Amino acid sequence: MRVLLTGANGQLGSALCEVFGYETVIPKDLPDFDLTRPTVAEEIIGSAPDVIIHAAAYTDVDGAEREPALALAVNAEGTERIARAAVRIGARLIYISTDYVFDGKQRTPYREDDSPHPINRYGFSKWKGEQAVLTSGARALVVRTAWLYGSLGKNFVKSIMRAAQSEPVLKVVNDQSGCPTYAEDLAASIASLVRKDVEGVIHVTNRGQCTWYEFAQAIVREMGFCCSVLPITTEQAGRLAKRPPYSVLSPDRLVSWGLGLPEWNQALARFSKVVRMPLSISQE
Ligand SMILES: NC(=O)c1ccc[n+]([C@@H]2O[C@H](COP(=O)([O-])OP(=O)(O)OC[C@H]3O[C@@H](n4cnc5c(N)ncnc54)[C@H](OP(=O)(O)O)[C@@H]3O)[C@@H](O)[C@H]2O)c1
Repeated sequence: MRVLLTGANGQLGSALCEVFGYETVIPKDLPDFDLTRPTVAEEIIGSAPDVIIHAAAYTDVDGAEREPALALAVNAEGTERIARAAVRIGARLIYISTDYVFDGKQRTPYREDDSPHPINRYGFSKWKGEQAVLTSGARALVVRTAWLYGSLGKNFVKSIMRAAQSEPVLKVVNDQSGCPTYAEDLAASIASLVRKDVEGVIHVTNRGQCTWYEFAQAIVREMGFCCSVLPITTEQAGRLAKRPPYSVLSPDRLVSWGLGLPEWNQALARFSKVVRMPLSISQE
C-alpha cells in the first residue's frame, strides 16, 4: 500500500510517518509541495498512491482572521485539488478536520451528524475543505480531531512547558472545553481506520474533556513544575479569533468499532516521558 501524506513535516504528519513507516509513505510538504498551486492534483496523480492522507493545512487560528484568503486557498481550494486527484486515480482519501467546525453552543459532545457552524475563519476554511471532500465522489473519510499536541511543532503543551520555566504564574482560559489529543494516538487510530476501509465522518480524540486551564494544571503537575496556574476568561485572554466555548467530540462511533482512544490525562502522562525539559523543546 502506497500512502501519500500531505503535511508530512507537521506534528501529526511526523507521527503518521512513524506509524506507517517511511518506506510506505510518500511525504509531501512545503516548500516543494504547495496546496495553493493549481498543479497539485497532477503532482499527486503522478505518484499513484492507494491512499491519500491529507493532514496539511493552514493551522494558525488567529492568523486566519488576518489572512482569510490564504486560509481558504490552502484549506478549501487546496483540499478540493486533493479530492480531484483522489477521484481521478481512485485513491481513498482521509481528510483531517477540526472541532472548530462547530460553534460550541451545545453542552453535550458533538456527534458526527451534528451540523457544523464555524465561528472563525480557520473553522470556516476547514469546513469548506470537508465539503469539498464529501461532495467530490472520492472514497473519503473526514477525521475530526481537536487540541492536538505532539513532539514536533508548536502546541499548547509545549507553550505551557516553556512558560512554566520562566514565569511563576500562568493565566489560562477556563471557559472553553475540549478534548486534548496526543498526535501519536491519533496517528495510530488513523492507521486502523485506513485498514478498516470506512467512509463518511468520524470523530477521533483522546477520551474525556477539560478546559484549557485544567489541561495546563495537568501539564504543570505531570511535568513537575512549581508555578501556579490561574483561571481567566476568554474575554480576558483577548485572542483575535473567536473560539467555540465547548467543542468536545463524541467518541461513540469510534468506540463502536473498538477503536476508542485512552483518556487524555493518560496520554499526557505518556507524552511527558518522551518530551523532556529543557533540551527537547527549548529550541522551538
Ligand atoms: N493542531 C491542532 O490543535 C488541530 C486540531 C484539530 C485539527 N487539526 C488538523 O490536523 C491537521 C494536522 O495539524 P498539525 O497540528 O499537525 O498541523 P501543523 O503541525 O501546522 O502541520 C501542517 C503542515 O501543513 C503544511 N502546510 C501549510 N500550508 C501548506 C501549503 N500551502 N501547502 C502544503 N503544505 C502546507 C505546514 O507547513 P509549514 O509548517 O511550513 O507551514 C505543516 O507542515 C490539520 O489538518 C489541522 O487542521 C489540528
